[in-house]
Amino acid sequence: MNILAIESSCDDTSAAVFTAEGIKSNIIASQSIHLQFGGVVPELASRAHQKTISQTVEQALDEAGVSLEEIDSIAVTQGPGLLGSLLVGICFAKGLATSRNIPIIGVNHMDAHIYANFIDHEPEFPLVALTVSGGHTQLVYVKSPFEHEVIGKTRDDAAGEAFDKIGKILGLPYPAGPEIDKLSKDGDPAFHTFPQAMLHKGLDFSFSGLKTSALYYVRDQEEAFVKEHLNDICASVSFAIAEVLVKKLKKAVKQTGVKTILLAGGVSANSMLRDKTEKMAKEMGLKLYIPKISYCTDNAAMIAITGKMKADLGQYDDLDLKPFSSL
Ligand code: KG4
Ligand code: ZN
Repeated sequence: MNILAIESSCDDTSAAVFTAEGIKSNIIASQSIHLQFGGVVPELASRAHQKTISQTVEQALDEAGVSLEEIDSIAVTQGPGLLGSLLVGICFAKGLATSRNIPIIGVNHMDAHIYANFIDHEPEFPLVALTVSGGHTQLVYVKSPFEHEVIGKTRDDAAGEAFDKIGKILGLPYPAGPEIDKLSKDGDPAFHTFPQAMLHKGLDFSFSGLKTSALYYVRDQEEAFVKEHLNDICASVSFAIAEVLVKKLKKAVKQTGVKTILLAGGVSANSMLRDKTEKMAKEMGLKLYIPKISYCTDNAAMIAITGKMKADLGQYDDLDLKPFSSL
């Protein structure tokens, strides 16, 4: 089965092709227009998707060496995401599906982050996934494919949002997560102790206190001091975020008794989080899967693999498929 996948939930226009040989292409067109605003501007995002979607899909087909006539179904992100951005991808997918008379498969973007781990591996069920992105932070108990239970989530900011907002306070460009990660590598994580919220309260997270704490900390220092110790501050922030995430993941493993864990979502590209989770998995004798970096942040390959898994279960949609921003 050949699947064309389209992802347009936020500020990346992406298209991928899946065949019997696996993922054959994964094109990602990132939108630089938002840089000047320090965050994603929804209306500009949907306009940029409209501009690039045609060529992104064409490029994905070309690189895969597969023609549109050879595509058997189209997988597309249904949500969660920005309504206007989702609409562009869904309308484009519907147009192609109608013209070719092939089925469409709506994919949940957060499911797809989890199943990105199935592109190169075959993780065993049941498992717990720590899904950390710009909009979500969740601990998900996955009993079998698409049988999910969210057992922990953030009560305010997502982990990626915390990285991005603290980055903004530090004067770093959006999205600041990758930049903070890079700067942390030459910094001292013990330089300053930032708060780790809700450690003893179940499996939920809270990151807004950390953001406020970083804001006051930076405000109370001399500008030159912050500049001089930027690496140390970034390392201390990364430490606080990664520690909470790993401690809660450990708790979720103990609570559910799973032997397999996954990292998923953009923040799973974070090196401190990856290192800490690897160490924890080793200590607890768990199998750990983490997608390769290009499958961590938003991409259509993860939509393709999830579409394939849904197709295997006969879970197709029809042309009534609608975008669902809070899916
Ligand atoms: O999954 P994703 O690409 O988009 C959403 O669905 O939100 O995640 C984007 C988030 C951003 O907040 C970005 O700063 C964060 O992932 N991120 C990172 C790293 N790479 C991306 N955060 C920390 N360290 C990284 N290396
Ligand atoms: Zn995402």
